[in-house]
Amino acid sequence: MSTGKLSIFCTGATGYVGGHGLQRILAHPLAHTFDITALVRNPESGKILESKFGVKAVVGSLKDLDKLTELAEGAHLVFQAADADDEPPMEAILAGMKKRHEKTGDTPILIHVSGAGFLIDDPRGEFASPTITSDLDIDAIDAIPRTAVHHAVDLLVAAADTEGYARTYIVAPGIIYGFPSGPLFEAGVAKRNMNQVSWYAEAFLARGRAGVVGKGACIWADVHIDDTAELLYLLFDKALDDPAKLGHGREGYYFAENGEHSLYALCKAIGTGLVEAGRADDAEPTEFTAEERAKIFGGDFIAFLHFTNARCRADRPRRDLGWKPVYKTEELYRVAKKEVEAALKKQLGRTAA
Ligand SMILES: NC(=O)c1ccc[n+]([C@@H]2O[C@H](COP(=O)([O-])OP(=O)(O)OC[C@H]3O[C@@H](n4cnc5c(N)ncnc54)[C@H](OP(=O)(O)O)[C@@H]3O)[C@@H](O)[C@H]2O)c1
Repeated sequence: MSTGKLSIFCTGATGYVGGHGLQRILAHPLAHTFDITALVRNPESGKILESKFGVKAVVGSLKDLDKLTELAEGAHLVFQAADADDEPPMEAILAGMKKRHEKTGDTPILIHVSGAGFLIDDPRGEFASPTITSDLDIDAIDAIPRTAVHHAVDLLVAAADTEGYARTYIVAPGIIYGFPSGPLFEAGVAKRNMNQVSWYAEAFLARGRAGVVGKGACIWADVHIDDTAELLYLLFDKALDDPAKLGHGREGYYFAENGEHSLYALCKAIGTGLVEAGRADDAEPTEFTAEERAKIFGGDFIAFLHFTNARCRADRPRRDLGWKPVYKTEELYRVAKKEVEAALKKQLGRTAA
């Protein structure tokens, strides 16, 4: 039954990106007119979402394809922040959006969180790529192969827009950093799993020194979680309120970055944290041996995937959304050192238990 409110369906609400995105949406001035449903795996998180935040929770997973279709069909806007790589859940969501369009004439909106990882090459840490892709360069994005990381799902999303039954937007952040904060995290609904920086901090702490693949010379774009949430919020707001000039479909890629770092510099910042914590004598990263790549990354495939280039410019959100990110890469290095402290606390907690 229609409530006369704006129906929103959200995946990934209990995660790092989705949690920050949803809590910004909940702070929208018109949030009282939103009817939000979130798919959650943990019933306890669902209960808190309902009781404290007025978000209806449906317990289920991305494997529940019929449920995804039904929930997507019921929403004018879908915010997808659970998985950027799994095609069947996206196909199920799009099937629901298509049904909605065919039955009601509504053209629903999809905001899909992908990642700048679709830009990566294979330098194995040896060199910095000179290629920097702007999200305004549609030809460059069109040239990305379907087999690139995340991209098979992106193409499904963009195709739905081309077909005309949905208006779609793809947000592609570089490495997102920063400790989680805000009401959903404080209430214990959302949590941050390990991200790249926290994961390196733990691995380097165990290793007793920072490490890199090859020279660590490769470069990734980076963005703070608060700036990412702000971009998602601005896109959400504009997609609803003033979409006419907003790029969508194959022209609807929105990179999220406010700087870039070499993997060497990031790993050295973690190394500096180790030295400051008295856990290493030298901040300089050393090259991982093949045995270490197997032990730390589970093999060369993942190790080499980390030490790639993903260089981009978030020109579209700056131009079309007025996005003004605050944090720069220096903050990533500061956070990297803090992640060492967090990793140390976790290690000490484990030892004490
Ligand atoms: N973090 C980054 O640096 C970064 C950068 C670029 C792109 N991204 C993309 O952003 C998306 C979200 O990343 P994140 O860092 O927020 O990850 P995260 O903290 O692990 O959150 C993932 C969210 O998705 C939910 N989820 C995962 N698998 C699910 C399943 N099978 N069924 C139902 N729910 C499921 C999780 O639910 P539970 O709480 O039940 O686990 C959680 O709410 C990913 O697609 C990622 O590739 C992340």
